[in-house]
Amino acid sequence: MSKRTILVTGAGGQLARSIAAVIEPHPLYAFEFVTKEKLSIVDAEGVRNYFSDKQPAFCINCAAYTAVDKAESATEEAFHINADGVEVLARTCAAFGTKFIHISTDYVFDGTSVKPYVEDDKVEPINVYGQSKAKGEENALRYNPEAIIIRTSWVYSEYGKNFVKTMIRLMTEKRDLNVVDDQIGAPTYASDLAEAILRMIDFNPWKPGIYHYCNDGQISWYDFAQAIKDSIDSACILHSISTDDYPTPAKRPKYSLLDTSKIKREFELDIPFWKDSLKKCIGNIQRQ
Ligand SMILES: NC(=O)c1ccc[n+]([C@@H]2O[C@H](COP(=O)([O-])OP(=O)(O)OC[C@H]3O[C@@H](n4cnc5c(N)ncnc54)[C@H](OP(=O)(O)O)[C@@H]3O)[C@@H](O)[C@H]2O)c1
Repeated sequence: MSKRTILVTGAGGQLARSIAAVIEPHPLYAFEFVTKEKLSIVDAEGVRNYFSDKQPAFCINCAAYTAVDKAESATEEAFHINADGVEVLARTCAAFGTKFIHISTDYVFDGTSVKPYVEDDKVEPINVYGQSKAKGEENALRYNPEAIIIRTSWVYSEYGKNFVKTMIRLMTEKRDLNVVDDQIGAPTYASDLAEAILRMIDFNPWKPGIYHYCNDGQISWYDFAQAIKDSIDSACILHSISTDDYPTPAKRPKYSLLDTSKIKREFELDIPFWKDSLKKCIGNIQRQ
């Protein structure tokens, strides 16, 4: 039997690289990891030619414009990649009968909730990045109603730039650090999400729709920084500050915890506790 192909876009990014690191137990699939240089998701003709050549059974879209603050002044580029690019993939997947998995964000919510966001809650982004991702979700489902969309939050990994790696570096360079303690959510170890995605692909039947995925627990960025500090045994002093004390070009939701009951139930999935995953990731970073 020939292997079914899984196309992973945005292969230079941290989620795609995390998927590449967990494919070993999935020998029945042929994985195609494609970087932006090899395949830009906004290039409709290039995407069509690629699909025509490889006939992927699944497409996991890890490509995105993810610079949240820069997006405030690069609106067109953010929408081009996060909305137009998703339309290209959604349409092409529909035309080729490819199952489409698209990744979205907690930043589609405004952060005014007092309880974890469920999939049906109203989408009301408060920054350009969130708006472009919300439009991407809309396009994914409009042009491909069979699509799966996974909203995730605070993604970190051994790869690229992320909060954990930045904190580890700053904690070794600085005596003091200020960290915001009034934005509440949950981190996501990209490796856990990668394994969840592959489980969803393996799962029978295919279950289209929107799902929320983050690690278990609820914390602030300050709590997260404190746990990182404890894990690396740093002497750096952490100060908790409020969002108002740390102005950024893009507004962030105050509360963006995602309720993960649906994905756990529908795919019989266990989600690790955030601190356990953090320890695992830091161990890997320290071994690099
Ligand atoms: N990181 C987070 O905290 C977070 C939180 C919630 C949701 N998410 C979502 O999770 C997904 C994966 O994020 P990530 O953290 O892995 O992001 P990432 O590390 O920034 O990776 C995104 C990748 O997409 C590439 N890309 C940009 N434009 C492209 C195009 N036109 N065609 C193909 N590839 C393109 C980027 O290349 P260049 O870098 O060269 O531009 C980069 O390699 C994204 O959908 C993101 O919105 C992330």
